[in-house]
Amino acid sequence: ITIEWDIETAEKGGYEHFMLKEIMEEPEVIKNSARISREEIEELVRCIRDYDRVYIVAMGTSLHAGMVGEYWFSKLNKLVIPCDASEFLVKGIVDENTLVIGITQSGETYDTIRAIRYAKSKGAKTATIVNILGSTATRISDITVMMGAGIEIAVCATKTYVSQLMILYRLFIEYGKIISRDMRIFEKELEKIPEYIKGILENRDAIKKVSKSLKAKNYLFISKGINLPNALEGALKFKEITYLHAEGMSSGFLKHGTISLIDDNMDTVALVPPSSSDLFRSVVSNIEEIKARGGKVVAISPMEIEVVDHLIEIPDVLEEVSPFLYAPVCQLLAYYKAVELGRDVDKPRGLAKSVTVE
Ligand code: G6P
Repeated sequence: ITIEWDIETAEKGGYEHFMLKEIMEEPEVIKNSARISREEIEELVRCIRDYDRVYIVAMGTSLHAGMVGEYWFSKLNKLVIPCDASEFLVKGIVDENTLVIGITQSGETYDTIRAIRYAKSKGAKTATIVNILGSTATRISDITVMMGAGIEIAVCATKTYVSQLMILYRLFIEYGKIISRDMRIFEKELEKIPEYIKGILENRDAIKKVSKSLKAKNYLFISKGINLPNALEGALKFKEITYLHAEGMSSGFLKHGTISLIDDNMDTVALVPPSSSDLFRSVVSNIEEIKARGGKVVAISPMEIEVVDHLIEIPDVLEEVSPFLYAPVCQLLAYYKAVELGRDVDKPRGLAKSVTVE
């Protein structure tokens, strides 16, 4: 018997693509990120408290993680402004009372590095949430928080996204504690997140089935509240590897133009907030508007919704915890669609793992 193998096949650990392998690693990655960088997290939290103005600068998927961070901090009355790093030199207001936190998996993204350098040159305090030890970002920042996600090989970011979310969720918890809020419920939930994700990943055949049923050329990803960044990220992931057109936006924004595009060539993926959220009804009513215009809707939802064409059910958790659950579902939807279309999933055309030029 001869067994055909090469290093790459061995590294994929039995999975067809690095992307799927990396998604499947998410429960373990979450556990790692929940433990790593304790001192640095505490130091960064003190800075978040002490600095008047706090920005997060990042690009791509890392920016979407930063946008979730904004929602977490706003629940604690702290303004943390996520900013597209390539715009930061134009609109960032930076002085000695400013803290600038870069989020960058690679630690080498040109625009993010430039934004951190700019902040430094203006006397700001700088920090980076990063996955690669010794990268440029770690060398130029005052505080480095390691993500602990392990190497990510697929070009599109999956496990590093949930790892960034976990670091931000820990910052949210620790910040709440130093301003004397009761954060016990969020600490308790933190322990359960890997299990929630595991359950979703075990159910991946159901997601594959839904992905197969999507036949449109255009896609909308909508949500409201803390999962809006996940809708943007869902659309980004989808277009990145399927090469189909996808847009993410708040369900509120939809009626201000985009809804006119709804037809049988534009399907919608709706990230429906947990049932305890005030936003639940509002997203459901937006779904009804789409259905009334003949659009097909896939709901990622903790509750059954009558009007939708397909339902991907997820656990009904606290709104603050929910971003961890929607993210892998969107990643898998994109993954299965791209595989079905025969795309180069791990190396999508024209894209690089790290963009080190302007
Ligand atoms: C590239 C990658 C994305 C990534 C972005 C930011 O565009 O393809 O997956 O999100 O860069 O990368 P960073 O390393 O700074 O997180």
